[in-house]
Amino acid sequence: MSLRGVSLDLGSVPADVTWLDSSASTNDHLALSVPGPSPRLAVTWNQTAGRGRLRRTWLSPPGTSLALSIDLGHLAVSRVSEPWLGAFPLLLGACFADAVSTELGAPVSMKWPNDVMIAERKVAGILGEIPAENRIILGIGINVWGVPTGIGDTSATSLGEHGLPDSNALQTILVTFLKAFFDRVEKASDAPRTEDWDFVKRHLVTLGRTVRATLPGGTVLTGVAESLDSAGRLIITTSSGSHTVSAGDVEHLRSV
Ligand code: BTN
Repeated sequence: MSLRGVSLDLGSVPADVTWLDSSASTNDHLALSVPGPSPRLAVTWNQTAGRGRLRRTWLSPPGTSLALSIDLGHLAVSRVSEPWLGAFPLLLGACFADAVSTELGAPVSMKWPNDVMIAERKVAGILGEIPAENRIILGIGINVWGVPTGIGDTSATSLGEHGLPDSNALQTILVTFLKAFFDRVEKASDAPRTEDWDFVKRHLVTLGRTVRATLPGGTVLTGVAESLDSAGRLIITTSSGSHTVSAGDVEHLRSV
């Protein structure tokens, strides 16, 4: 394990925090443990079988990549709803992007639906899951000191590549983004507030871009990503009309 793979003090985050020496998947760790009323976090520098969106594998080089999962606890109870389920990954990613950009001054943004990017390269990915009734788990995998190698993927980057100086700066980013996220979730109940959607939209560079969206069934849509609907779905205008997309992979084709 890298010396940089230390446990950080997340004590001011309003959640019970568990640092794990290793975990197959921090999302699964929380899903398989007994839930309580309080929100809980599971964090590790050594995730051995991480899962990504659309049944993909999420690779986390030990000691260089952080896997962090949140069980929302009682906060999930009134929020297993379309607007919230679409909003959670976007809101978590926007809070992370905001904290990284404040701390590092890096050009951080979100790509719909779940990717955090620095200068168009992926620095973090988010996976939201509902393991049981009234339970919501959100996981974020963060490339901190390095990126997965050996998979021929050059589209990833890390916080370290963009000036993260040390563990203290990382701790500041984590505490800031988690507190901001919990604060926004606690202040809104039935649905995210207009100001939450505005905050998401400020960080979402997909909007206004020409995109190629590959839907889970394989359909490909090419058009302009016009807006989000009230459940965080992407509205894409193509030559054949307007399409509402709830899941898939989006590629940014060019700036406007
Ligand atoms: C994606 O980009 O496809 C989402 C990646 C999500 C990875 C995180 S790491 C913490 C949590 N545990 C997992 O097994 N996956 C998520």
